[in-house]
Amino acid sequence: MTTHQFSKPQIKGMLAQELPQTPFYFYDENILRALSASFQAAISSDPDIHLHYAMKANSSQAVLKVLKEYGAGLDIVSGEEMKVGLQAGFRPDQIVYSGVGKSEEELRASIENEISVILVESREEFLELCTLAADYPQKKVRIGFRFNPNLNVETHPYIATGLWDHKFGMADEEILSLLALSRPQNLSVECLSIHLGSQIFQDKVFYDALGEVLRLARVIVEKFSLRFPILDVGGGLGVNYEKPFQKPDFESYGKFLKKALLEWKKFNPGLSCKVYSECGRALVSQAGFLVTKVIRVKRNPKKNFAIVDASMTELIRPALYNALHVIEKLSGVQGEGKSAEPSERYDVVGPVCESGDFLAQNIELPVLQKGDLLWVTCAGAYGFAMSNSYNMRPLPAEYLLKKEGSWELLHGPVKVWNKL
Ligand code: LLP
Repeated sequence: MTTHQFSKPQIKGMLAQELPQTPFYFYDENILRALSASFQAAISSDPDIHLHYAMKANSSQAVLKVLKEYGAGLDIVSGEEMKVGLQAGFRPDQIVYSGVGKSEEELRASIENEISVILVESREEFLELCTLAADYPQKKVRIGFRFNPNLNVETHPYIATGLWDHKFGMADEEILSLLALSRPQNLSVECLSIHLGSQIFQDKVFYDALGEVLRLARVIVEKFSLRFPILDVGGGLGVNYEKPFQKPDFESYGKFLKKALLEWKKFNPGLSCKVYSECGRALVSQAGFLVTKVIRVKRNPKKNFAIVDASMTELIRPALYNALHVIEKLSGVQGEGKSAEPSERYDVVGPVCESGDFLAQNIELPVLQKGDLLWVTCAGAYGFAMSNSYNMRPLPAEYLLKKEGSWELLHGPVKVWNKL
């Protein structure tokens, strides 16, 4: 259906002007807004359902600004993300803090800043927080427990998190044993959370997770007569990378969130219940594009290689997860004789000295030559965010294609080693 499709960004204007140095990322503000608006529509803007956008997916200030406008809070995983989130104007009470390895310094910063919920992922972290809370008698330390139910999810093994093979969360028995311990007066447990992994396409996974948390919550009530107002269902809503212009299925995810809220309210009558979602990718992936130029085309008896100036240092997802990103030749997508062009198969590879340095393998593209421009789609999540400077490559520039069609340079290429 056309309403579930985005229109392709119009970058002709930019191509006609002096083209920025490639490779660079750009984010289409119209698509960013459409994604946030779709999420809000799917939850009928229910004030008891909060998006805590996982800012690890893309922490550009321009992106955060749009998300904030649509009412999002943040899910953070480091002290630096806390700083950047607060600088972007998110209030501490709109931020939840996940992660297995929060340092003492980071825990102190979350207490000092009164971050709304610190999601505890181990017994040791809980005990450390209990000790730290005593140093801040005037502060309220609000925590949640991240539950690991030992449930498998069909996704890439590196982005599954819900098994006891994974470092994340705690088994039910561990959470119960922590609740039996005494806690400082100013530390309160307000939330149960669960996050089974990323790229989830079957609703069943979300409902199974909900069932598991409810089961644990029942045991907690029986044993301790304790109830928590917040249910954090994690993130993970999948993006179909094969169809870069088709919206994620916010409708059925929204139904799930509404159901989760209903169940949580039914289970905790009289409590002011909230459901938090920590989606990251689904809000930003399709708004981002990595633009790259063909350096040269190389052929051997087996393959054609389109050697481009972007690599695994700009976008590591293909190398790390064998992830698929649709790549298009820009003159083609801009409507200039796409169908008439002869095509052939290429491995699209970068200049980095690794055989794993590819952006796509064995894909059909119009016949390429030096200087041709390509874009890599669905690059808005975990793209720039995971870029690095291997081979002394600069981190790429980022641009915003604003809603009225003009371009804003967010920052130029960054030579990290100059700062070493
Ligand atoms: N909440 C927690 C506790 C998480 O660990 C994550 C992602 C999210 C929320 C957001 O998940 P999302 O909605 O974006 O799927 N670099 C990988 C993804 C790693 C995800 C890490 N945690 C990739 O490029 O696919």
